[in-house]
Amino acid sequence: MEKSGPKMRTDTKLVWAILLASCSSGAIVGRSEMQECVFYNMNWKRDGTNHSGVELCSGENEKRLHCFSTWKNRSGSIEMLKQGCWLDDVNCYDSNECVERKENPDVFFCCCEGNMCNGKIHYNPEAVQSTLKPVVVKPETFPTLLYSLLPISALALLLLLSFWMYRHLRLSYPPLLLASQECSLGSGSPLLAQKPIQLMECKARGRFGCVWRAQLLSQTVAVKIFPIQNKQSWQNEYEIYNVSGMKHENILHFIGAEKRGNGVDVELWLITAYHEKGSLTDFLKAHVLSWNELCVMAQTFVRGLAYLHEDIPNMKDGHKPAIAHRDIKSKNVLLKSDLTVCIADFGLALKFEAGRSAGDTHGQVGTRRYMAPEVLEGAISFQRDAFLRIDMYAAGLVLWELATRCTAVDGLVDEFCLPFEEEAGLHPSMEDMQDVVVHKKLRPAFREQWFKHTGMFLLCETMEDCWDQEAEARLSAGCVLERITSLQRSTSLLVSPHLLSNLTPPSKEFSL
Ligand SMILES: *[C@@H]1O[C@H](CO)[C@@H](O)[C@H](O)[C@H]1NC(C)=O
Ligand SMILES: *[C@@H]1O[C@H](CO)[C@@H](O)[C@H](O)[C@H]1NC(C)=O
Repeated sequence: MEKSGPKMRTDTKLVWAILLASCSSGAIVGRSEMQECVFYNMNWKRDGTNHSGVELCSGENEKRLHCFSTWKNRSGSIEMLKQGCWLDDVNCYDSNECVERKENPDVFFCCCEGNMCNGKIHYNPEAVQSTLKPVVVKPETFPTLLYSLLPISALALLLLLSFWMYRHLRLSYPPLLLASQECSLGSGSPLLAQKPIQLMECKARGRFGCVWRAQLLSQTVAVKIFPIQNKQSWQNEYEIYNVSGMKHENILHFIGAEKRGNGVDVELWLITAYHEKGSLTDFLKAHVLSWNELCVMAQTFVRGLAYLHEDIPNMKDGHKPAIAHRDIKSKNVLLKSDLTVCIADFGLALKFEAGRSAGDTHGQVGTRRYMAPEVLEGAISFQRDAFLRIDMYAAGLVLWELATRCTAVDGLVDEFCLPFEEEAGLHPSMEDMQDVVVHKKLRPAFREQWFKHTGMFLLCETMEDCWDQEAEARLSAGCVLERITSLQRSTSLLVSPHLLSNLTPPSKEFSL
């Protein structure tokens, strides 16, 4: 019962805020279009912003603008964290004073409407809550217990209802304010301090929950939210991003990890750069590629993978260990605005540090469709190179997906298909995949006209060398990168693919 107190309060508050907002939304006319807020950033040096000043707010049309402040209050001494503009948020509607109403939060937050309204902050824990506080039941005898069961179950029902409404409304009515939820990080925790983030829209549902487009002050970011059951995955991804040398243009840019909420409602957030174009799978479904675009995507994808796999002892910030991704697939490759790509989702990744075991590992993880034959058979050795070769198998399949949508060759381009969709359908079972990949030794089919284009021909050879049945025979990522770089270079010199027919066929090992 003790735990449910603050939770219900937040939920009821949210529900109230929404109800109030939907009643008052008719009265928004005549707002000024310009809004300025007091600006402050405690971490101005690190973030490269001004320390303090005035921020002119901008937002989408038809949306309201607000100001916010976040601060800490250590027994009366106020430490301001951040102040500035806040986007449209029902929780701030029609309040011209900036007031935190939550009781004793770790990080105080308030928002308000009106020029510079966040200049003054107020703390006014809600008095109304006393009526909603759960009854404290101390059953002395059996009858009292019996009588108290009724209010408890009523309360539980109410709680459930408000919880459901909160969940439900949160999905259908973003952006809701989540940034001010208490966060109780242990002291000395390597996690970042709570950032003022507004969730805007759920863009994709992954294995572990939702990826949101979100607003972090004036920056658009992606927030992946893991339910507490998937703590392991969140923790692993967070640790991988924090490995020395993980900053690379072809690896998704990591911003921070946070724990939000408390009690049963804890959520684990992972904040990264946001890429509007989404995953390679989504992009290929809707677009075809020119030969040049294919080369750029293939090259940057393999460059990211080669970097991930590489062990680099003398980085500026330490020793970068070799890392196996273990869930390479087109859905985990994100497209940047310039059509270069970056690799995402390190929930299953493993790092290999000399003298340390790779940790608690299970062999058979990842996505069935992209599992190498040895994984499907459950016959892998737990050696570094074995894991890297499993990635290379999957990389071959991703290259094939790129090839199927390329317009460089004559004839029609096929609709987008996942690898083995023709052979094993949309939802293959483990047995289906074993049958196709291990027993029949099938691989995605090449179209005949691909071989008429020198570049495509070379790319097909490279795919075959990636997905070889024998793991030891597969190319390394570094080697694939060299091949793709050189085939791009050689084909970019040629004007027309028709001139290629009398070129000598490429040898298996060609150098730069
Ligand atoms: C800092 O403040 C100055 C003047 O107030 C303004 O022109 C400038 O854009 C601000 N810079 C940033 C990074 O906000
Ligand atoms: C800070 O905390 C004290 C109690 O410790 C409270 O009286 C005061 O109103 C708080 N002020 C703000 C701005 O949070």
